[in-house]
Amino acid sequence: MDGANHSVVSEFVFLGLTNSWGIQLFLFVFSSMFYAASITGNSIIVFTVASETQLHSPMYFLLANLSLIDLGVSSVTSPKMIYDLFRKRKVISFRGCITQIFFIHVIGGVEVVLLIAMAYDRYVAICKPLHYLTIMRPRMCIFFLVAAWVVGLTHSLVQLAFVVKLPFCGPNELDSFYCDLPQFIRLACTDTYRLELMVTANSGFISVGSFFILIISYVVIILTVHKHSSAGSSKALSTLSAHITVVVLFFGPLIFIYVQPFSSTHLDKFLAIFDALVTPFLNPVIYTLRNQEMKVAMRKVCRQLVSYGKIS
Ligand SMILES: *[C@@H]1O[C@H](CO)[C@@H](O)[C@H](O)[C@H]1NC(C)=O
Repeated sequence: MDGANHSVVSEFVFLGLTNSWGIQLFLFVFSSMFYAASITGNSIIVFTVASETQLHSPMYFLLANLSLIDLGVSSVTSPKMIYDLFRKRKVISFRGCITQIFFIHVIGGVEVVLLIAMAYDRYVAICKPLHYLTIMRPRMCIFFLVAAWVVGLTHSLVQLAFVVKLPFCGPNELDSFYCDLPQFIRLACTDTYRLELMVTANSGFISVGSFFILIISYVVIILTVHKHSSAGSSKALSTLSAHITVVVLFFGPLIFIYVQPFSSTHLDKFLAIFDALVTPFLNPVIYTLRNQEMKVAMRKVCRQLVSYGKIS
């Protein structure tokens, strides 16, 4: 396995999603709209939380960080997919392919830890309200943030270490519209069984494991709310339902894609579009729609932006 093997395959060709012109047109319009909307929505959240001092609390800092990551999620694979839609030959260089895999897994790891941190924040706020300020200190938020990036980088680098030296000598067609491990590994001309197992163990275990951690923590919160049902509990439940929706939408496709990387179906591709385009768009919608404080702050920021525009 020396580096010279790479020279045989220096680029990969995406087979894309479909050859039907009608579906391509639909995907082009759909993807461009969702991409533009998620960039706008998440940028507004980051900007609003940064500029409104009454939103300077752990919950909103974590939300803004999630929006920042969502900007990344939608930008790793979607622009290239949209650009490629109508091209006959959709190619990506070997290096471009590795870069996509690297960022997909860093960002995925960060997002998972942020979702856990947000669940923990709600757990403390609802189950230990008197200790909220002492537990969720700024130090704690920074700890979560550092942990998220350490986990994301480690998770990604560990997987890449296994695959970056793989020999590629034959077919270079990826049955997808972006590079990710399951399809990438299958093209290597070596026995890939153990590598596929490693991907299932690493990405699959992380997605299933954190999904269960999150669901269990939400069940604990809901049970606690039930026991001490008070005036505040219905408000708490409505924020919780937003969190649970996001978690299910984010992990559903992931688990499907990584837990059985051996089989690939048409469904995988459409689920991948969902995770790349729809989830990052839905996060700001879900978290802000039912949050009065956030809506008021966003309106204020938008008004300010409009009036700045008029002056200059
Ligand atoms: C992310 O969280 C940290 C720690 O609370 C905070 O200082 C920072 O402003 C947040 N980032 C954004 C974009 O809001």
